[in-house]
Parts: sequence; C-alpha cells; structure tokens
Amino acid sequence: MAVVIDGKAKAASVTEAVRKSAEALEAEKGVKPGLAVVIVGNDPASHAYVNSKSKMAKQCGFNSIQHTLPEETTQAALLKLVGELNADASIHGILVQLPLPKHFNSDEIIQSILPEKDVDGLSVLNAGKLATGDLATGLISCTPAGAMLLVRGIHGEDLSGLNAVVIGRSNLFGKPMGQLLLNANATVTMAHSRTKDLAGICKTADILVAAVGRAAMVKGDWVKPGATVIDVGINRIQAPEKGEGKSKLVGDVAYDEASAVAAAITPVPGGVGPMTIAMLMANTVIAAHRALGLTAPKF
Ligand code: GUN
Repeated sequence: MAVVIDGKAKAASVTEAVRKSAEALEAEKGVKPGLAVVIVGNDPASHAYVNSKSKMAKQCGFNSIQHTLPEETTQAALLKLVGELNADASIHGILVQLPLPKHFNSDEIIQSILPEKDVDGLSVLNAGKLATGDLATGLISCTPAGAMLLVRGIHGEDLSGLNAVVIGRSNLFGKPMGQLLLNANATVTMAHSRTKDLAGICKTADILVAAVGRAAMVKGDWVKPGATVIDVGINRIQAPEKGEGKSKLVGDVAYDEASAVAAAITPVPGGVGPMTIAMLMANTVIAAHRALGLTAPKF
C-alpha cells in the first residue's frame, strides 16, 4: 500500500512558519501583512473556499479583508475596486476568486491586479517569470506551489531522471505545475482532454499529477508501480451509503485502486487542498516583505 501524503500536516507547518514570519514583521516594522479576497456572486463552493481563506489569514495574524459583491456587479465596478486595492498600501495581496460570473471578462480583471500583489500568480509578469525559470522574484500560483512542496517531501529538490505527467493545462494549475516540475529537472509531459492514449502516457509517470475535474477518472491501471500520485481534483459526488441525500468529496484519481499500485499518494480531502490556502498565506507574507524592501522568507 502507498504512503498517504499528509497535506494537512504539511499545510499546518507552512502556516505556522507564515504566522511566525508575520509576527516578526509586525514586531520589526509595525506592519501586518494585508490580504484582500474578493468574491462576486452566490456560488456556494466558492463562498466556502473564500471563507476558509479569510479565516486562515486572520489565524496567521494578517489584516484580512473580504469584499463580497452581488452577482450583478459590473466589470467597471470590479475594476474600480481592484484599482483601490492596488493603491492601498496596507494591502499586500489581492485575490479575486474564480470563476467570476459569466458576464465578466475575467482576464481583464485578473491582469488589472498589480503583479506584486497578485498572490494567485496569474498576472502575465508572474506567469512569465515562472516560464523563464525565475522562481525567486515573482509570485507562484498557490495550488501548484503547494503540490510541489508535497512532491519535494517525497523526492527532494532534484527530480533529474524522473518522468512527470500533468493531466490538465489550466493557467491556474496545469501550466505552472508543469513549469515547476521542469524547473526541478523532471522530464515533463503535459496531457489534456485531446491527448491520445492518456492511460498509456500516465503509465510512464514516476510523478503523476491529476487536475481534470472528473471524479475518479484516473484508474489504478494507469498508474506505474511505485509512482507518486498527486490528486488535485475536488469533486462532490452523491454518497447514498452515508444516508439519503448525502454527498462526499473525491479526487480525480480512483483512490483505492491507485493506492494499491503507487508508492505515495495524496488523499482527497486532506492532500493538495489544504496546501492551496497555506501557500496563499505564504505568498501574502512574501509580498508584504518585498513591499517593505525586505528579503522575503522561503517556504
Ligand atoms: N478558484 C479555485 N481555485 C482558485 C484559486 O486558487 N484562486 C482563485 N482566485 N480562484 C480559485
């Protein structure tokens, strides 16, 4: 049976390091890291994520601000809010929760966030720094940064000689994840919905990362014996075995099958999920240090 990678424990150790770093910053400079989270509309899952982000920011000793805007908010009004947050020196990190309601031009909103406050790592500047191998001066998207810490916990810093397969090519996860693995010297394949023989390609992976958004799509016989499996999916499915109308969260990987073949695997929940919030806290304390002209901590 595979080792179960404990994302909750790793996330707790990162947030504790962030809390200490924020405490030291406040003691030395009298400044609390400031995080503004913006959510538009009524999607219950997004509200749950955003509430946990705001709560964790408070636990880390941050100045935590949440803007909850109605569904009918206009593009111009949201751009204006981002502009105000950009100009507010007490705010070091800005996160606009995605997806935005359909009438928004999300890209224009995201690109309007100042790159130094873009704690999601989605600005063209931050994405470009990662793509060109500059991991030191930009901000890296939270979920891939967190997944990478879990990979490092198993394989160390240098992935030379290892094949990594990432399924999914989103700007928020798949692309930055592929680049982080490549930077660590893995041989990387980016697979996606148009890939031919996905199962065969996955079977070549020493490190298999699934971010497809489909419950249990990656089967046990897609996994190379001894592989590390990182499951980024969070899918809510019916769970009649828990009682009528009940549901549960599952990943993109068929966990029981895959854990019988893999050497290490992340569970859902409790794997990559908690790392996303921890890395958001890390990015915010990093951004606050840089805003004050200080050397940022590393996580
Ligand atoms: N929606 C789901 N995950 C994320 C994330 O990491 N950042 C933002 N902004 N929205 C999300």
